[in-house]
Amino acid sequence: MENTQYRQNKPNLTAKQQDQIIIAALILREGGTVAFPTETVYGLGADVTNPDAINKIYQIKQRPIDHPLIVHIGNISDLHYWAQAIPDSAWKLANHFWPGPLTLILQRSRHIPDSVTGGQDTVGLRIPAHPVALALLDALGPEKALAAPSANRFGRISPTTAAHVQEELGAAVGMILDGGACEVGLESTIISFHDQSPKILRPGGITLSALESVLDSPIMLAPNTSQTIRTSGSLPAHYSPATPLRIYSTEHLWDRALALAAQDLRVLVMTWSDISQSQPSNQSIEQFSMPADPITYGQQLYARLRQFDQAAFDYMIIETPPEHPSWLAITDRLQRASYNPFDNKQN
Ligand code: TXA
Ligand code: MG
Repeated sequence: MENTQYRQNKPNLTAKQQDQIIIAALILREGGTVAFPTETVYGLGADVTNPDAINKIYQIKQRPIDHPLIVHIGNISDLHYWAQAIPDSAWKLANHFWPGPLTLILQRSRHIPDSVTGGQDTVGLRIPAHPVALALLDALGPEKALAAPSANRFGRISPTTAAHVQEELGAAVGMILDGGACEVGLESTIISFHDQSPKILRPGGITLSALESVLDSPIMLAPNTSQTIRTSGSLPAHYSPATPLRIYSTEHLWDRALALAAQDLRVLVMTWSDISQSQPSNQSIEQFSMPADPITYGQQLYARLRQFDQAAFDYMIIETPPEHPSWLAITDRLQRASYNPFDNKQN
């Protein structure tokens, strides 16, 4: 069973964590915001039923108001309450993968306010697989849920530790709950049931093949250009470090790095293959080897991009990930991180 790695046993929280969760629930009930850990990335949460609290999320993130938020729920039995006209295939996926890194886009019920969905008639729902997130949802009580985008400023790299959230949002957020480093490290897979057949809007923590094997049918990837459904993660520029980032094939990696170094630029080269063995020595180039499997690569990616972003390189050069479908989410995030609005003008 694919999902067992994400399922948690009975939450095993320290007394301190339990106390903090009680305080966090109070802050949320009073209309404040709380950043909390999930298995994917840290979320910036607010009470779904409180439009003022939801507004705070948009303000803190500097996120355009028409980009909907994912709603985090604690129990699968609550799915009826927040969504309606739920197809059998959506139930199948929810039963199989929740708690876990899968977001279902469904027709919203009357309990989801406009503020959460940007006025759309659909809502994104998921049960996060992190004991702190689940305990927080439990403490909030029945008929409550947490609207929570990733706890970063709009367009930036998602945080995978509490320290990253502090860097990103600092004092703007009511409280930051620390649940350690995120286990998955990349955002949830988003699948829409809005049309006749399910479509992946964002590849993520659950692979396409895992979804297809549960539904026993092929699933489409939505074209990024979709105008009808707004997915901020599908804008070209997203998940971006401030340092220019470029992706090159294994073959061209070092040529490009040397060409930049020749212009007196400091270059970070991030590889996953054995290429490091043929690395030319050059003072302006630093090489970093990432794991060659997508699970651990994904766990580390955002933390590494953040680290190298702070190390004042002029360029980050990334080795093209393998073309295997299990690398889809990583390739997607790297492509968005490498987007450069000036590229079109230059070429
Ligand atoms: O793993 C995750 O999904 C994390 C954790 C915190 O749960 N959350 C996350 O949220 O990545 P955010 O807001 O950074 O990305 C959510 C994406 C956005 O691109 C948003 O536009 C899309 O989900 N989304 C939310 N509701 C939607 C809807 N009703 N229709 C289409 N897209 C939706
Ligand atoms: Mg995000």
